[in-house]
Amino acid sequence: EKIFLKDYKSPDFTVDNVNLDFILNEDFCRVISQSQVRKTTPGAPLLLNGEGPKLISIKVDGKALDSSQYELTSEELMVKDVPDQFTLEIETELQPQNNTALEGLYKSNGIFCTQCEAQSFRTITYFWDRPDVMTSYSVTIEADKTKYPVLLSNGDRLKVEDLGNGRHKAYWKDPHKKPCYLFALVAGDLGVIRDTFTTRSGRKVNLEVYAAHGKQDRCHHAMESLKKSMKWDEEAFGLEYDLNDYMIVAIDDFNAGAMENKGLNIFNSRLVLADTASATDTDFFSIESVVAHEYFHNWTGNRVTLRDWFQLSLKEGLTVFRDQEFSGDMTDRGTQRIDDVDGLRAAQFAEDAGTNAHPVRPDSCMSVDNFFTSTIYEKGAEVIRMMQTIVGRKGFRKGMDEYFRRHDGQAVTTEDFAAAISEPNGKDFTQFRRWYSQAGTPTVKVQEAYDASKKEYTLTLEQSCAPTPGQPTKEPFHIPLMVALLDKQGKELPLNAKGVHTNSDGKYIIELREAREVYTFTGMNEKPVLSILREFSAPVTLQWAAAADDLYFLVEKDPDSFNRREMAQKLASDIYSDLIAKARKKEALTVEPRFLKALNALLLDTKASPAFKAKMLQLPSLHVLAQKEAVLDANAFYAARNAFRTAIAKECRQALLDTYRQYHGVETKNHDSKVGAHRRLKNMALGYLAETKDPEILKLASEQYWKAENLTDRMAAMAILAELDSPERTKALDHFYQEWKNDSVVLNKWFTVQATSLRPHTLDEVKALTKHPAFNITNPNNVYSLLRAFGSNLIRFNDPQTDAFKFYADCIIEIDAKNPQVASRLCAAFNFVQKLEPAMKDRALSEIKRIVAVETLSKNSRELLQSAL
Ligand code: ARG
Ligand code: ZN
Repeated sequence: EKIFLKDYKSPDFTVDNVNLDFILNEDFCRVISQSQVRKTTPGAPLLLNGEGPKLISIKVDGKALDSSQYELTSEELMVKDVPDQFTLEIETELQPQNNTALEGLYKSNGIFCTQCEAQSFRTITYFWDRPDVMTSYSVTIEADKTKYPVLLSNGDRLKVEDLGNGRHKAYWKDPHKKPCYLFALVAGDLGVIRDTFTTRSGRKVNLEVYAAHGKQDRCHHAMESLKKSMKWDEEAFGLEYDLNDYMIVAIDDFNAGAMENKGLNIFNSRLVLADTASATDTDFFSIESVVAHEYFHNWTGNRVTLRDWFQLSLKEGLTVFRDQEFSGDMTDRGTQRIDDVDGLRAAQFAEDAGTNAHPVRPDSCMSVDNFFTSTIYEKGAEVIRMMQTIVGRKGFRKGMDEYFRRHDGQAVTTEDFAAAISEPNGKDFTQFRRWYSQAGTPTVKVQEAYDASKKEYTLTLEQSCAPTPGQPTKEPFHIPLMVALLDKQGKELPLNAKGVHTNSDGKYIIELREAREVYTFTGMNEKPVLSILREFSAPVTLQWAAAADDLYFLVEKDPDSFNRREMAQKLASDIYSDLIAKARKKEALTVEPRFLKALNALLLDTKASPAFKAKMLQLPSLHVLAQKEAVLDANAFYAARNAFRTAIAKECRQALLDTYRQYHGVETKNHDSKVGAHRRLKNMALGYLAETKDPEILKLASEQYWKAENLTDRMAAMAILAELDSPERTKALDHFYQEWKNDSVVLNKWFTVQATSLRPHTLDEVKALTKHPAFNITNPNNVYSLLRAFGSNLIRFNDPQTDAFKFYADCIIEIDAKNPQVASRLCAAFNFVQKLEPAMKDRALSEIKRIVAVETLSKNSRELLQSAL
């Protein structure tokens, strides 16, 4: 039932090329694959992966095999005796119109499309469905001319033939070898916008973005993002595009966000379509970063690919790192880093602390689909970033050049990557590689001492890492800690201590390798203030009992903006914990005035950027708090949240109002990241002010909703109105529905705003919405925006007064039967079961048991849920 990394064996055959012919019809489709094959392991039988496609015929060198010459199981096709070199021809039949799993070849709104990563090529035909079998693809697609005027696949467009009978046939050839998970096909009636990009060596690339007819006007931002990405990769990494065409296709029914198929990216339409009326600033940002992510995969993923799926982070961690760097350059590096770390903490730290914790390079699994996690993606990106911190940016670029020099065209491992970065920089990453093999978030304990007579400051660092499933003990990690010691003015002191070095960017780095190390800094005339883990240089949890005075000093003065905000979060998190404890004891909820005053001072500070102020105003998320608290008591969390936010609203009322007035109504149609940050800040201000339910403020919110000139403002106001129990709420929700009922990408926001509402009736409303005519349980975006959003509503999902667990379990069971990948993405809502109070925990566990008892449950959901039991 499980597969193991240690069982990896290199393939027994080399495939020189493959021809795929697709004949697309309404009731069934035919696929004929013809491969030129050479045996590389003498005597090996031919073993092909295949799950589901109906086998029509199999021929070796033109001769059809009869059923005694092969063995067919539900997962494999085996031919015992095959020559050393032969032509293999396989014909299969599929019904894409009935494919609800949305994996392999399926139909979305009348468009044929594919999703083959990770292992769904095997649902199309019998093949070597493993990334280390790379070959050249020639593809033909034959279909009805009127229903499917657009016929796309990877690589170069050779020709389109009119077959005369109302059908036509397109010929494609991809000049680059690739594994089958990067194969793609699209056939449908689509609109398109076109542009070009000339690479720095002079190749003129045709760029095309396809979407449903009538939606072309919403494709321009995706196109601009693509051009920016192409330029950035040339400048930052010297990487150019390698085909004459680059196509992006927006599809409404798509399990994930997007897919980097060679030359033919297929995207969830929510990550392509955007204009001022239909997309928020966040959507504009996400589109830019995901378009970039998929584009960057062309080198990190496609040109250099994976040896096996356990290496998934080789391409995903690296490509996330690259898209984060890109976004930093497009927006603001400081706030980008804060956002990335917030995301890491909310999702990945929770994963690492839970029952599904796994290493960045796992060594076993049940379902490869379950590898698409924040550990593989986001922690994987942190591992790459730590390498860059250790060798510096220049050194990292040297290592990347070496990686492509060594491995272009190959299927490789995370170890190959680590070697390519470390060796040209004269570094030894043997210990560092534990970041790939050991799961769990390490803790670094910080202890400081100052000896005034010796003018000596000592820093003692101790690391540890709690056990994770299958890993009871851990070896010490190699942890790069970016540090500074600040004088009373906040100036960075020169450091010369054993064990502290300067990287090629001139930053002080401590490389902690032992379980405990002591660093001594001499010549300190006064006790310096420590700024440690600057820029979040390693994905660890700091255990540091810093003096409140030092924390407030850092909030005000640390030249590292990440740590200014980080120390404010640390203070806020302590206040939150205190409020939660008081709420559980039914004590009065009062908030430390010093913190409120510091926040107010920051709002008034004209030197601080609006983007930074917005980050400072944001309190730790409830998901982050739930990781820290011993008990997840939803009522106490709710009370604490309200008390904290109301206290800020009261203390900072004037500053918040002034902020709102300063930025409201300014450049409402400009989506530049700077203007977006102004809007974010003023909408956060409005959100805080609305906590007091002051009628004057609610009037502002209502006005903003009705007069909004962009979706960001409209949604921000709607989120406020959706928390009310007044006709204002219904009026706005009804209006929004009427406006967007035929536009599912936008309507999804209407589902989400209701599913994430903190009102006590949310569960009932979510239940009713699952019966709403606009809700389609077979559409992944609908499920994510209503049900997954509700699952992330920590307060209402875990509300002891309702029975959300039972409803949610029913949803998982129903969806799993149709689409295992979508169902398994709902399972994370149960991640906090171990923290619930006994009665709630019993309820949750009995629902999980009920799901796992479903015999036909997919291995995806089963793997994620049974670990909780
Ligand atoms: N490789 C894609 C990306 O990160 C994601 C594909 C998701 N596939 C999946 N089976 N969940 O860009
Ligand atoms: Zn990716």
